[in-house]
Amino acid sequence: MSGEYILEIENLTKDFPGVRALDNVNLKVKKGEIHSLCGENGAGKSTLMSVISGVYPKGSYEGRVFYKGKETAYHNVKDSEKERLAIIHQELALSPYLSIYENIFLGHMKTSFGIINWDYYIKESQKYLARVGLKENPATIVSRLGVGKQQLVEIARALSKQVELLILDEPTSSLNDDESAKLLDLILEFKKQGITSVMISHKLNEILKIADTVTVLRDGKSISSFDVKKENLTEEMLIRDMVGRNITHRFPERNSVPGDTVMEVKNWTVYHPEYHAIKVVDNVSFNLRKGEILAFCGPMGAGRTELMMSLYGGSYGSRSEGELYINGKKIQLDSAKKALDAGLGYISEDRKNLGLILIQDIKTNISSSSLGKLSSFGIVNKAKEIAEAERYRDELQIKTPSVFQLARNLSGGNQQKVVVSRTLLANPDIFIVDEPTRGIDIGAKTEIYNILNDLVKQGKSVIMISSELPEALGMADRIYVMNEGRIKGMLRHDEATQEKIMHMALVG
Ligand SMILES: Nc1ncnc2c1ncn2[C@@H]1O[C@H](COP(=O)(O)OP(=O)(O)OP(=O)(O)O)[C@@H](O)[C@H]1O
Ligand SMILES: [Mg+2]
Repeated sequence: MSGEYILEIENLTKDFPGVRALDNVNLKVKKGEIHSLCGENGAGKSTLMSVISGVYPKGSYEGRVFYKGKETAYHNVKDSEKERLAIIHQELALSPYLSIYENIFLGHMKTSFGIINWDYYIKESQKYLARVGLKENPATIVSRLGVGKQQLVEIARALSKQVELLILDEPTSSLNDDESAKLLDLILEFKKQGITSVMISHKLNEILKIADTVTVLRDGKSISSFDVKKENLTEEMLIRDMVGRNITHRFPERNSVPGDTVMEVKNWTVYHPEYHAIKVVDNVSFNLRKGEILAFCGPMGAGRTELMMSLYGGSYGSRSEGELYINGKKIQLDSAKKALDAGLGYISEDRKNLGLILIQDIKTNISSSSLGKLSSFGIVNKAKEIAEAERYRDELQIKTPSVFQLARNLSGGNQQKVVVSRTLLANPDIFIVDEPTRGIDIGAKTEIYNILNDLVKQGKSVIMISSELPEALGMADRIYVMNEGRIKGMLRHDEATQEKIMHMALVG
C-alpha cells in the first residue's frame, strides 16, 4: 500500500437481509485531502462510513479496508477511535443531559487514584472549543444548544482524540447558510493542520467549494472519482453519475391561481416553553389561500418552526396569544389531534424525535395518522394498510425491500420520505411542511416538489418552511420573511430574489 493514501478500500461488499447496501466498492482517500462522497438516498454512503469506522465489525462485510497502510479489523467504534479516526453521524450522538466538556471527554477521561480532575477537563475543553470557534461555557448542558453548536461539540470531541481522519455524514444538512459556511471553513482549516476529511453531502455546491476529490456512489457501487480542479468538475457531471440520467426541471413549472383565504393568523404571539416571559414569536399575522404555496424564510432561530408548531395545536410554547381562523371560522386548537381534525397536517423537520417511530415498520409509520380511514368497525384493514404503504413506496421511490422493513433500517433520506408519506395519506387540507427536502437527494427532491404542486392543483394549500432559498423561490407563490420572531416582510413570486429576502430578514 502506498503512503500517498490514508484510506484504501478494496472490493467492499456489505449485505443486509434483502439488500445489498454496498456492492464491490473501491475508494482511495489521499492523506491530507478533503474527499467528498455523494449519491442518491440509499446509495450506501452512510453504510460505507460505518464499515470504515467499525460500526459494522470485521466479518460482517466482504473486502478489505486499509487505514494508514494497515488492513483494519475493528470490532467496534472504540477500536477505530484509538487509531484516531472519528465519525460524526448523520443524526447527532451526544448525551443531551450532560455538559459540553463531559461530552467532549466522555469515555476518555483519566483518573488519578480514582478521582477525575474536573477543573482540568473544563480547561482542556476550552482549548478544543476555541479550535472549533465555539464560545459557550463548557459547563452548558448540551440540550440547550442548537444543532449547529452541538455538531461543533462533536467535532471538538474528535479533536480531543487527536483525530487524523474525520468523517462527516451530511454535516450541513441541519445548518443554515451562515453556519454551513463556517463549518466548511473549519474543515478547510483542519486541512491546513494536516487532518484528512471525508464529507458526505447532498449539497453539490458545497462539495465543489471544498473538496479535492469527489467519489460518486450509485446503488451501492462506486461509479466514479473526480479530481475537482484537474477535471473542472461541475454539478451536472456529478448529477449525471449520481442518477444515471440528466435532470432538467428542478423546479417544475406551475400556473397557480390561488383562491379564497383558507387560513388566517392574527397577532400571534408565542411564549418560550421554559422562560415564560420571553416571546419566541411576536405578533405575527399572515394569511394562506386555497391552492397556494407559502414559504417562510429567515435565519435559523427566526421562530419559523416555533410559529408553525404553536399553530399546530400548541405543540410548542408555554402559551400563545392571538387568533386563528380556518375557512373564516375562529378556532382554538389545543392539541395536535384537534389540529389534524381541523384539516391541518404537519411534516416535522425533526424526523428522529417527532416524525418517525424507528422500531416500527414502514407501513405502520405511514398509516399511523390515518387509522380511522383505514379501519372499519374499529379494526384496521391490513390489506388496505399495506396497499397504501406500497403506493407511497412506488410514488416516492422509498428504497427498501418491503414495507415491513423497520424504519430504523432505512437510509436517512428514505426515512424522510416515510414521514412525508404519512402526512400525504392523512390528506389534510393544509400542509405545513418544515424543511421537507432536508437530506433528500436531487432526484427525490423533484418528486417532492411535484407532489406539492399536485396538492395545490387539487385545491390544497401548503405552508413550507425552507432554509434553501432556491427552493423557496422556485416553489412559493408568496414568501414571508421572518427574523427574531417577527415577520419582516412579504414578497410575491414575481418580485422575490435571494438578495431581497436576505435584506428583508436583516433590515426589514
Ligand atoms: N441496518 C440496516 N438493515 C437493513 N438495511 C439497511 C440497514 N442500514 C442500511 N440499510 C439499507 O442499505 C442501503 C444503503 O443505506 P445508507 O444508509 O448507506 O444510504 P445513504 O447513501 O447514506 O442514503 P441517505 O442519503 O438517504 O442518507 C439502503 O437501501 C438502506 O435501506
Ligand atoms: Mg446516509
